[in-house]
Amino acid sequence: MSKPSNEEIFEIQRKINIVDVIRDYIPLTKKGKNYFGICPFHDDHNPSMSVSQEKQMYKCFVCGAAGNVFNFVKDYKNINYYEAVKEVANKVGISIDIGTYKPKEDIKFKDEYDIYDLSNKFYQNNLNTNLGKIARNYLISRDMNDDIIKKFQIGLSFSDNKLTELLLKKGYSKELLVKSGIAVINNDGKVNDIYRNRIMFPLWDTNGKVIGFSGRIYEGKDQSKYINTMETDIFKKGSLLYNYENARKSILDKDEIIICEGFMDVIRLYTIGVTNVVATMGTAITKEQLNLIRKLTNNVILMFDGDSAGEKATLSFIELSKDIDFNLNIVRLEEDLDPDDYIIKKGKDKMMEHLSKPINAFDYALFNLKNNYNFNNPEDVSKFITSIIDKISNIEDDVIRDLEIKKISKLTNVDSDIIKSKIKTKTKEVKVEIKPIIKFKENKYDKASKLILFNMIRHNNIIQYYFNNLSYLPDEIDRRLASEIVLFFKKYNSFNLVDFITYLGDNSELVKRVSYIDSLEFSENYSMEEIDNYFDTIREFSNKKQIENLQNKLKTETNDVVRKEIAKKIIEIKSKM
Ligand code: CTP
Ligand code: MN
Repeated sequence: MSKPSNEEIFEIQRKINIVDVIRDYIPLTKKGKNYFGICPFHDDHNPSMSVSQEKQMYKCFVCGAAGNVFNFVKDYKNINYYEAVKEVANKVGISIDIGTYKPKEDIKFKDEYDIYDLSNKFYQNNLNTNLGKIARNYLISRDMNDDIIKKFQIGLSFSDNKLTELLLKKGYSKELLVKSGIAVINNDGKVNDIYRNRIMFPLWDTNGKVIGFSGRIYEGKDQSKYINTMETDIFKKGSLLYNYENARKSILDKDEIIICEGFMDVIRLYTIGVTNVVATMGTAITKEQLNLIRKLTNNVILMFDGDSAGEKATLSFIELSKDIDFNLNIVRLEEDLDPDDYIIKKGKDKMMEHLSKPINAFDYALFNLKNNYNFNNPEDVSKFITSIIDKISNIEDDVIRDLEIKKISKLTNVDSDIIKSKIKTKTKEVKVEIKPIIKFKENKYDKASKLILFNMIRHNNIIQYYFNNLSYLPDEIDRRLASEIVLFFKKYNSFNLVDFITYLGDNSELVKRVSYIDSLEFSENYSMEEIDNYFDTIREFSNKKQIENLQNKLKTETNDVVRKEIAKKIIEIKSKM
């Protein structure tokens, strides 16, 4: 086991700006001194997470998530603390060796992830062998070069059972291989590779880990074009978007996402330099996927296949996302083409033209609906207006709503006022105020503890004063926190919060508590008299506690001599109070 020392981690921390790092994961907006974003650690609807450049800390006001840059990356990516340190260090060009350091808790489904990682490497290697030539030629015929093959980790499965054999040799059980969707079991009990003679596209989860495959045929046409990994413990098709982790940075930079149906579309767009693209992989969009999108941007361009299935999928996306505050725009491609074929057939410039002039979703839906009605027939006009009225009511922006009403009026020859009169003035949804989940019991002892800790993390002399005169707090977490502050101070001869949080590392309970204490709005000024008062309050608690314990003892004690001793002690403590 090797892991970096605290001093090494402090050094990395000093080279990094937490705002830059968190920006790689979620959009942040500056308000006053701090930056704000949608908290990724709970189902957040308003930006509840603040990031402080000055303190190099983040904190969510709703769910209480808090810490420094390493805690953020650790929790966001669901990796262990030292992996997070390594990842952050890489961003500033420092490479550190965490060797085979293993976290205390094992990662859930670690074997499954390892199986997929190994399989992915195995398939990629197959493509480079002599036997992979036909598949390579197929890819070349589709204009896919080595750069793309590498970037999208494209591989190849043969019609043998070598992968299963390798995995069994590595010690994974037959049952696990079958359960994780990488092998099938025959009647005779023998396990075989599931994917046979297919081009393998790995599918990644939102952290960039391989969790499944989509295998495409490349010779003959008799079997189904794609075979996907079945739903497993780690692979849920509805909770991922193809290329999400790859495209994250580009989506954040451009503040825009392009959504396609197929992964070939994503790959082809990448070749013309359009990198903020993900794919739904041919299924109807889910709430989870919409949340993944919303975490990165509100500006969405839908570019589904140009055929009628793509049109249906587009309308269904508009419907399913209507409660989300997206700025949703649509690209419809001519001649039933999908984006991949479109670029091959019409070229980059035509595609770029489409992407620069998408139609807004409302207009698209309107246009589409219009085709179902005959506007020479008054009854149809009336029906059309009834059908569209809900959509208009949903437009929150008054100006846009008015413009859309005028458009419909022009389209149908119906007076704007009549259309307006049909709009139920939607009562604005009342936003439910989410109460903070963590509630700390507030009594005078708790308040005194908070004030002591608050002053300890601000004034070095109070740390020493606490150690010499009190060294006790009622609450167990606060007590541990105070003693860690003392230990840190003794070790480094001074105290600063940023390094202290780094020093706490994986101890998220204490990281959260100290972040919370730090964020309290107590006065920055203090007097020793005040501090003494807080200490007295805590002593009062401690005395009461001792008396309580002694009285409990007294209840069960039968020996008179001992009883007298106890009573004497109680009187002693009481006289001090
Ligand atoms: N898909 C799937 N299973 C299928 C067919 C399609 O999972 N039997 C998914 C794949 O993720 C695919 C997407 O739906 O990327 C779109 O399907 P389709 O348009 O048929 O594929 P293309 O992207 O056009 O693939 P290709 O160009 O290789 O034919
Ligand atoms: Mn295609």
